[in-house]
Amino acid sequence: MKINDCHNISDFRFLAKKKLPSPIFNYIDGAADDEVTYKRNTESYDEIDLVPNVLRGVKDIDLSTTVFGKKISLPVYCAPTAVQRLFHYQGERAVAKAASKFGTMFGVSSLSTVSVEEIQKISNSPKMFQFYFHKDRALNSDLIDRAKNAKFDVLALTVDTITGGNRERDLRTGFTIPPKLTFQSMMEFALKPSWFINHITSTPFELPHLQNYVKEGTNTVTSIGEYFSTMLDQNMSWKDAENLNSKWGGHFALKGVMSVEDAKKAVDIGCSAIIVSNHGGRQLDGSRAPFDQLKEIVDAVGDKIDVICEGGIKRGTHVLKALSIGAKACSGGRMYLYALAAAGQKGVEKALLIMKNELERDMKLMGCKKISDLSRNNLRIR
Ligand code: LAC
Repeated sequence: MKINDCHNISDFRFLAKKKLPSPIFNYIDGAADDEVTYKRNTESYDEIDLVPNVLRGVKDIDLSTTVFGKKISLPVYCAPTAVQRLFHYQGERAVAKAASKFGTMFGVSSLSTVSVEEIQKISNSPKMFQFYFHKDRALNSDLIDRAKNAKFDVLALTVDTITGGNRERDLRTGFTIPPKLTFQSMMEFALKPSWFINHITSTPFELPHLQNYVKEGTNTVTSIGEYFSTMLDQNMSWKDAENLNSKWGGHFALKGVMSVEDAKKAVDIGCSAIIVSNHGGRQLDGSRAPFDQLKEIVDAVGDKIDVICEGGIKRGTHVLKALSIGAKACSGGRMYLYALAAAGQKGVEKALLIMKNELERDMKLMGCKKISDLSRNNLRIR
């Protein structure tokens, strides 16, 4: 199977599995505990049906939407995800360039393997910096300064990783950052020689935003769960989020809000948006799916801030359903990560093209020409 044979996200997943050493594939693909929430994130979209209209002259479709005061050409963007150069040697560079080509937003993680300064040089679309609130306050200040100087448009504070999730696949495979060179992992790498050659011939693994402050993840091997549990500040509070927002002084979002109570507080502290998300099912298994929870949140705060639906998106129709309920945009991680692993920038571009084509086709079939034509009138609960 090759990239030309990929017609949907499941095809990219299949190819990624063939290309990646098993600990790395399972890090992307896995989630917490029994992975119930992870599965529900996608399945939730099947419980609502679309009711199309016809005879509406739908030759030209406008997929653009405005989030964080920025117009983007697609109503879906690439969520920030960590350590992308482990998945493909081009890493964050590939995602930045592909997103720019499609005129959509993308996120860069605090745990990225390419710096915000370099990303600034290669992208011309809106950029989100994903922020982890560390115990080390000097590191926090540096992260804000760097994202600001690199002209990032949005700061998104992740609020659902107050401790590490129980990711049993990672425990079994021994996934760490940087990857551990043990006999077992060498065997895994030997099975995927093209990944291994690209990995050892490109710039060594680094975490450019963190490594001047913490040795964990660069000089000392750690798991992602351990990193969350030991490096991040578990006393993080609403006051901290509010202070961070005023220090940043630009568009600010909370990523990982699930309750109406928290959504209202996000409005009170001056957020521009909230990202309804359960971290791809990777933290609290049993947590509700973002799409299931979306209506409650939109009804409570949708007229005051942008609500973004993140998680489980595999199809254009999933995006249309979330937008019909009232989300301003959607975002996804695995949605483009399997494609990144499968073929670098070319892969991410193909994933975004498939999404764009699906959205255009589905909008026409729905009888809608622009995003604002979508509404709850077009939805029914099964
Ligand atoms: C994860 C973090 C790093 O889910 O976003 O692994």
